[in-house]
Amino acid sequence: MSDKKIIAVFGATGAQGGGLVRAIAADVNGPFTARAITRDPNSDKSKALAALGVEVVAGNTDDASTLAAALAGAYGAFCVTNFWEHFSAEREGVQAAAMARATKAAGVQHVVWSTLEDTRKWIPLTDDRLPTLHGQFKCPHFDSKGAMDAVFAAEAAPTTYMTAAFYWENFIHFGMGPRAGEDGNLVLAMPLGGVKLPGIGAEDIGRCAYGIFKEGTSTVGQRIGVAGESLSGADMAAKMGKALGRTVNFFDVPFDVYRGLGFPGAEDLGNMFQFQAILGEEFQRYRDPVRSRALNASLSDFDAWLAANAGKIAIG
Ligand SMILES: NC(=O)c1ccc[n+]([C@@H]2O[C@H](COP(=O)([O-])OP(=O)(O)OC[C@H]3O[C@@H](n4cnc5c(N)ncnc54)[C@H](OP(=O)(O)O)[C@@H]3O)[C@@H](O)[C@H]2O)c1
Repeated sequence: MSDKKIIAVFGATGAQGGGLVRAIAADVNGPFTARAITRDPNSDKSKALAALGVEVVAGNTDDASTLAAALAGAYGAFCVTNFWEHFSAEREGVQAAAMARATKAAGVQHVVWSTLEDTRKWIPLTDDRLPTLHGQFKCPHFDSKGAMDAVFAAEAAPTTYMTAAFYWENFIHFGMGPRAGEDGNLVLAMPLGGVKLPGIGAEDIGRCAYGIFKEGTSTVGQRIGVAGESLSGADMAAKMGKALGRTVNFFDVPFDVYRGLGFPGAEDLGNMFQFQAILGEEFQRYRDPVRSRALNASLSDFDAWLAANAGKIAIG
């Protein structure tokens, strides 16, 4: 039997957890072994992890009774929720709390919780700069995670709080790629309010989480934001254009226009971008590429990410 310490990974078939599982598996002489937790051990994504030699177990954060077995014997746990599967801040909170409590009950020694800011600490519900959504949130998918930090602090195993930056994969999978403009050039349209956007390649998030587990419990209680680079809209467009071999112009979409686009989550994302603009450099400081590179020496900046991914960018 291996004497490696088990890190149980929620979201292992997804972007963040998957990057962590692959980072652990790639470090064959490292101190950890990954256990992938999934609702469906027979899915193609689960089978791909098993093919790497990773242990795959069943667990569902909607059903707390499944989590003790999934975490049994684990040294570490990576906890992440997927707001975009159901768009319910309440359900995300219940899922996060179930994970938090299960890590403590299982005797886990180190948790990395993938959280985001509770924007209401900066912009209270009475502050009209951002419209209040569903009566109790400014940015539901941020606020729901940030609100759970207190539950991790009080009721989970010792926890490090990791905040991810905007995935550059949103240009591929999330409908945020450039569109063809009337002049034949491409337009990258995003609501940035003139500020820089911290971004990261999704695979690097898990690699940074791995760096946190390697640094160990000295990071407990810390908030560690991970990003590959912070760039202005114009710089992102210029770099994207160079990689695509086409002219890409940036258009800074007014926040109200973006909130009114009508797609599911438009108001939430519009408020998220405006929150990032209101905080400006403070928000960028919370996602520090220097700290991220110390955790993950292979961290990509945007040019490196584009070199590997430009061909996959979805052009609308
Ligand atoms: N896109 C961005 O720019 C960005 C930036 C920062 C943070 N985020 C946050 O990232 C989170 C999503 O993380 P991701 O991108 O890694 O997700 P993802 O690639 O969409 O994958 C979702 C993962 O969650 C697992 N999962 C979902 N519901 C579960 C449940 N009830 N029990 C157990 N596992 C469950 C899925 O596992 P199975 O299906 O195998 O069970 C899957 O592995 C979101 O909450 C989002 O707010 C996104």
